[in-house]
Amino acid sequence: MVNSNSISIARQRIRESRRLAVITGAGVSAESGIPTFRGPGGLWRNFRAEELATPEAFKRDPKLVWEWYDWRRGICKQAQPNPGHLSLAKIETTATEFLLITQNVDGLHKRAGSKRIAEIHGNIWRARCTLCGNEFDLEETPLLEIPPRCKCKGIARPDIVWFGETYDQDLLEDILDFLSGTDTLITVGTSGMVPMPVYLTRHAMSHGAFAIDLNPDESELSGIVNLSLRGKAGEILPNLTEI
Ligand code: OAD
Repeated sequence: MVNSNSISIARQRIRESRRLAVITGAGVSAESGIPTFRGPGGLWRNFRAEELATPEAFKRDPKLVWEWYDWRRGICKQAQPNPGHLSLAKIETTATEFLLITQNVDGLHKRAGSKRIAEIHGNIWRARCTLCGNEFDLEETPLLEIPPRCKCKGIARPDIVWFGETYDQDLLEDILDFLSGTDTLITVGTSGMVPMPVYLTRHAMSHGAFAIDLNPDESELSGIVNLSLRGKAGEILPNLTEI
């Protein structure tokens, strides 16, 4: 349970921030019915990442990889933004400077109304041609053709950062720049097992940010941040945004 004192500290920090950043993970979409990756019911409990979310897997069997992504696209299409997503969109309108960094590829932050979003793992509604590099929106699901093709007839892949691939360096530079001057950073619904949120949080804190983590369970961030809020994103975030 989160005590009311922790909530009021977090609210005050948010209210007084000149530059506010948020990092989200799969947990923020859990209450929308999108499975997380780790923990009970997590995708990596039933699927092997190396068979589905690596460049080698795609080279070996693009059809299998696309079928898995199309199944996930179907789930994302049915899902609606939950009060957690909506609260983050609301917070953005009250902050002087704001950035939402998300590991999620489901597009729900945008559908909730968030504007300043850095999707560091890509987006499930976009594809990228393996031949000419063209990036394009691919919104139909189920897909008409698997694997989908680019206008140039090359096979397209999901525009997602897979295991073994590097982050977009320009995007990362921009994020690090923003976090260097961030007053308050909130991490929501990430296990930190993929280390980027931990790295970004340490970076922001080393530049003076106050860090708040929101998660119903312990995470890799719990021992690092200044304030740990235990609870569900959809239940706690609306309380933080009544400012
Ligand atoms: P994880 O599945 O590793 O962690 C989800 C976190 O959300 C856990 O710590 C849960 O306790 C927490 N959680 C569950 N329900 C919640 C709720 N209602 N409110 C708040 N938190 C909740 O997901 P990520 O940390 O996002 O990458 O995983 C990072 C990356 O690993 C993903 O982007 C994905 C995966 O492999 C790729 O596929 C490239």
